[in-house]
Amino acid sequence: MITSTTDFGTDCAPEDQEDIDPMTLVGMWTRTAALTAPPLMSLATVGLDGYPRVRHVLLSESDATAVYFHTDSRSQKAAQIAQAPRGACALAWPAAGRQLVMHGDLRVAEPEQALRSYRERSRYLQILAWRNDSDLAHRPPAERRRAWARFDAENDELDPPPTWVGYALIPREIILWRGDPDGPSRRIAFRCNDSGAWNTEVLPG
Ligand SMILES: Cc1cc2nc3c(=O)[nH]c(=O)nc-3n(C[C@H](O)[C@H](O)[C@H](O)COP(=O)(O)O)c2cc1C
Repeated sequence: MITSTTDFGTDCAPEDQEDIDPMTLVGMWTRTAALTAPPLMSLATVGLDGYPRVRHVLLSESDATAVYFHTDSRSQKAAQIAQAPRGACALAWPAAGRQLVMHGDLRVAEPEQALRSYRERSRYLQILAWRNDSDLAHRPPAERRRAWARFDAENDELDPPPTWVGYALIPREIILWRGDPDGPSRRIAFRCNDSGAWNTEVLPG
């Protein structure tokens, strides 16, 4: 049985929850026609000083092995990932009673994947990827807007800037949390073993 809500993707029946491939569920939870932009996730990386860092990014896409996000190669997160290619992400849908948390290894995404995700971005986000540099950030608001409008007027179809980079977060562990208005919440942890199969563990919420 499949269930769905408007602000959230789809889900499987409780009796199937432990047996389904968790990346299939990640896809079901994060893809919904009601969304006008990709879902937002908090993304944690390891800072250059060893302390964790967190910020929100768009979850561009997921497939059988990874979730993907995109950023600027000059960003702090890119430097952090280069030094320590490990990360974690969390997404929550409070109204639907769902939370998805995962951690794992980070790899630079394939160029075709990065290009596809750029093409799927809104015009605003495509321009942002070009015009979001340190130089423009230091200029007054009116000047920033003029530079933006000029760039928009001068460029029709946009290709990704050279600084556009995608990352795949390849999970070692995925924890799916389900709320229940009539009972306790419950989690299922999926952990990848050495042969690449998923072991499951049911946990209290
Ligand atoms: C709603 C929202 C969506 C965002 N999406 C992205 C994104 O997809 N990629 C990205 O690099 N930054 C995105 N940002 C900006 C990041 O949160 C962050 O400020 C920026 O990437 C710099 O992070 P860093 O200094 O840790 O590298 C988004 C911010 C918000 C509020």
